[in-house]
Amino acid sequence: MKEVILQKFAEVFGDAEDVQVYFAPGRVNMIGEHTDYNGGHVFPCALTIGTYGAVRKRRDRKLRFYSMNFEQLGVLESSLDELKPDPKADWTNYPKGVMWAFEERGMQVPAGMDILLNGNIPNGSGLSSSASVEVLTGYMLRDLFGFEVSNQDLALIGQYSENHFNGVNCGIMDQFAIAMGKKDNAIFLDTAAMEFEYAPIRLEGAKLVIACSNKKRGLGDSKYNERRSECETALAQLQQVIGIETLGDLNEEQFELYKGAIKDEVCQKRARHAVYENRRTVRAVEALKQNDIEAFGRLMNESHISLRDDYEVTGEELDTLVEEAWKVDGVIGSRMTGAGFGGCTVSIVKDEAIDAFREKVGQAYLKKIGYAADFYAVQIGDGPVKL
Ligand code: GLA
Repeated sequence: MKEVILQKFAEVFGDAEDVQVYFAPGRVNMIGEHTDYNGGHVFPCALTIGTYGAVRKRRDRKLRFYSMNFEQLGVLESSLDELKPDPKADWTNYPKGVMWAFEERGMQVPAGMDILLNGNIPNGSGLSSSASVEVLTGYMLRDLFGFEVSNQDLALIGQYSENHFNGVNCGIMDQFAIAMGKKDNAIFLDTAAMEFEYAPIRLEGAKLVIACSNKKRGLGDSKYNERRSECETALAQLQQVIGIETLGDLNEEQFELYKGAIKDEVCQKRARHAVYENRRTVRAVEALKQNDIEAFGRLMNESHISLRDDYEVTGEELDTLVEEAWKVDGVIGSRMTGAGFGGCTVSIVKDEAIDAFREKVGQAYLKKIGYAADFYAVQIGDGPVKL
């Protein structure tokens, strides 16, 4: 991949002298969905697919961007003196947002850059292609200019840029999973305390399979912000009757006891998901530690049902993929992953069932939805690296 990128860099920007090449992964979340902005737990892992970036410092303050995924856009130009969100600037708002966020933290980016990206995360799939670009940008800036920031800071800077530059109120999960990824491990992160531990994912005789609905998120970002504010409303009403800081502070029994304080039925459902999903995530990691992959799979299935019925972020496409997966023998667990409203599902599938899974789920999906889904067996990889 490095050679392909360097060759393209030379083609686009004249030559490839003094160019550095980096990689940052995408991520998949195993369980713990829509809990990260509710003070709950998440359990994502970095993937071996992600975003490659080639970069070279310039002598002026110009920024020139080129993406091999959007070749039709050609070279997009900007400048360090124009770090403002621009709806016309398309994908470059992600790297520009990170440069802006570095400057907000008092780290002035001293020189312009020529940047070329090439990603192999299916775009709009919910496997965090944007967070991958954000962490990659931070990693490149640190290496090129010697900023003193940890990988955990890179995650926080990426999230800050997404919240304040790109207007999506996302939690910390995606950027954290990417910046802190570890091969063959998922990350059990408590988003309230920002404490984490790695948990090995040993799937003997089974694989992680991603099914991509090919439905783009579209309006998803505004719906995402809407879910977030529904949870905030629920929390504020609960706080009038019980001293909690986040929905993640409640267990199921406490929720059932106090839920009457949440006046609106919809907000009550959203909060129920946040509370139960958080507890499910804790139990799922315990099951995994005891090597009880079947129990882990059942909790994945329950997670999907809660996202479908209480959080209402699945939709016909993701429901079809998951409900068809549940019918296939050898599927240990299956659920939507990421924000929802389109994107992907993640399933644990026994090796001998993978062909049947692709075939049966693929055919049923095509028949019902009218276009095809894509399937990938994925591996859990490390965080960002310099190549
Ligand atoms: C998106 C956000 C994350 C998280 C998930 C839902 O991926 O970026 O912060 O909230 O949705 O779990």
